[in-house]
Amino acid sequence: MTDKTRQYAHLKSRHCSAVLELSDHEAPLWRYWGPRLPDGALPDFSLRDARATPTFSLEEDVPLSLFPTFGVGWFGSSALLAHREGQDFAQAMTGCEIIWLKQDHALRVRMTDPVASLVVEIDLGLAPETDVLTVSTKLTNMGSGVLDVQWLAAAVLPLPTQAKTVRSYTGRHNSEFVMQETALTRGIWRRENRRGLTSHDAFPGAVTSASAADAHSGLSYGAQLAWSGNHAQLIEWLEDGRYQWQLGEWLAPGEVRLGLGESLQTPEVLATCSLAGRNGVAAGFHKAIRSRLTWPDAEMSPRLVGINTWEGVYFDLKPSTLFEMAAAAAEAGIERFVLDDGWFQGRRSDRAGLGDWWTDLSVFPEGLGPLAKYVNDLGMDFGLWVEPEMINPDSELFRAHPEWALQIADRPLLTARNQLVLDLTRPEVSAYLLDKIGSLLDDLPIAYLKWDHNRDLTTAGSLGRPAYRRQTQAAYALMDEIRQRWPKVEIEACAGGGGRIDAGVLQRTHRVWTSDCIDAISRVAIQRGFLQFFPPEVMGAHVGASPAHSTGRSQSMDFRAAVAMPGHFGVELDLRQLNLAESETLKGWINLYKAHRDQLHHGQVWLGEGDDSVLWQAHGQADDLLIFVYRLGPMTQKWPSNLILPMVDEDKVYRVEEVRARPSLHAAAAPVFDDYRSKGVDLHGAWLAQQGLPLPPRQAETCLIYWVRTLDQLS
Ligand code: GLA
Repeated sequence: MTDKTRQYAHLKSRHCSAVLELSDHEAPLWRYWGPRLPDGALPDFSLRDARATPTFSLEEDVPLSLFPTFGVGWFGSSALLAHREGQDFAQAMTGCEIIWLKQDHALRVRMTDPVASLVVEIDLGLAPETDVLTVSTKLTNMGSGVLDVQWLAAAVLPLPTQAKTVRSYTGRHNSEFVMQETALTRGIWRRENRRGLTSHDAFPGAVTSASAADAHSGLSYGAQLAWSGNHAQLIEWLEDGRYQWQLGEWLAPGEVRLGLGESLQTPEVLATCSLAGRNGVAAGFHKAIRSRLTWPDAEMSPRLVGINTWEGVYFDLKPSTLFEMAAAAAEAGIERFVLDDGWFQGRRSDRAGLGDWWTDLSVFPEGLGPLAKYVNDLGMDFGLWVEPEMINPDSELFRAHPEWALQIADRPLLTARNQLVLDLTRPEVSAYLLDKIGSLLDDLPIAYLKWDHNRDLTTAGSLGRPAYRRQTQAAYALMDEIRQRWPKVEIEACAGGGGRIDAGVLQRTHRVWTSDCIDAISRVAIQRGFLQFFPPEVMGAHVGASPAHSTGRSQSMDFRAAVAMPGHFGVELDLRQLNLAESETLKGWINLYKAHRDQLHHGQVWLGEGDDSVLWQAHGQADDLLIFVYRLGPMTQKWPSNLILPMVDEDKVYRVEEVRARPSLHAAAAPVFDDYRSKGVDLHGAWLAQQGLPLPPRQAETCLIYWVRTLDQLS
């Protein structure tokens, strides 16, 4: 019997295992990543011992490794594309050392290529409590010639032969997280983003599933890159029937040129697998993101109900209007008032002002102090919108420093929304922003910054070199510095809604603005895509006006609020325009959100599809669930199908109660539905899981909320 501890590195978590086959003269081979294997389950033979040499093949078999490289026997996509003035274009790791950082859970693989003079270090960690595998890679040039790097995978992950489909997310401004499902074939599936920030149209992650998997069961895998810049991912079929999944930064030509001793460190990849389908993958991601969030005072405080002025009044800011809005907000039970775009020097429209981060005294003759104080006196936090990385050509800053915009000599500057991007890689630019934003944070009682980024990067050069990754790093550094100096301030990441949603920005911010589209029907789909990767407490979700500004569609206040309720709830409309009934309805929802936010924001999320235009999601724990049943379209059945609840405990009895924001005007259509509302209905978990919860008929664009708890929870 061989000594398995020497032959393998087995990373373990509660539900997952990752197994590498080790040798000291090559990169570790991927043997397994999937559901947890018991100790003693690893075979005695090596991978190659179970592979015969096929015809027309190398005598030297080169299977998938943790770091497969081009040119010396590996014919798949390379984890590294690099050269030194056309030389050292082929690499092979021939030295390998394993350093356990935490036995069974985290290790560093240190590999060397003495011919190409490279050192590669890959850190892998499999967190026992989250089931999420974290991988990052560092490449160091040990040679004297400059190493040009075109691609360095942050992670190379193996997918089993059962993987059949990949769900990825595309979209645009106002329509983020459009899910598309693609069959994996004998070829390469690939997504790339070259927009300079995370992007609306190519989310840096995906979910792959076996054909039998669905939302609740079966084998699914997920991965996402924790990075807010350019990125690429590919899934490639391999000749042994497996796939490799690579994720990393997309590098511009010439962007990374390593001198002697210099290194390239990739961002991290978060990856997980589950036998509980896509919801199992989401559960792992939610736990991992929660463990990486950095809250003021260490713990997440209850997510305050906010009001944002943008869709309420846009650029039409007047102190008197804002005072009235603040008073109405406090009266409605709102806890945070966020003054959006339009408050600073020269910013009367989106044509001017970005860069001039001081209060426009022509609008606020006494500054923002009185408004902030009024807001605080009403018992609300004060928040402020900024867009630090941007500059309008029509601004004092640009007139003084046109060279501060990202640019390429002799190329025209391309504006988007009339703005250019500041070159944050210049220390004087970051220092200027720190000074200006710092003055605001020092002078005003700001508890919350909404940090926007309203365009893609073009001509992103700095001193003649590509500046994409350095720009992202500089933005992170600025956020980190602000967090460190003003640790109580929370930050919301926004980029025209959801253009910068990723696990990298969420290590330094506290929520994202999910989309500029607040149409509740559109939001159902957007939020379901979001929740595949991120937990609900960081999902900015507002009640907007009706008709919705982005789509022109109208929905009831109840439906708009029910769609926003699971996220970080807020309001984005002019409260002064609501009639009494609408105000009362909204107040009811604000109270309901406050009553349930702890449950919503600490629990697991299950997304499900009912029949006949019903989508649902459950939040909480298996014994204590809040279930949102959204009916998107009109009924085509006479009686609604029962709602199957696969996550409940089949050995327990549950009480089902309908939760409402206000007394309903409509009588229920059958005795059981009355009971849901009055005293609750007891149903066995096995019945709920197998036969399902009877649902009342409803009109389109309505939501019912059920609180489903075991009787133990009630006692
Ligand atoms: C972006 C944001 C909006 C709002 C505007 C202000 O579009 O996504 O929420 O802040 O900018 O200009």
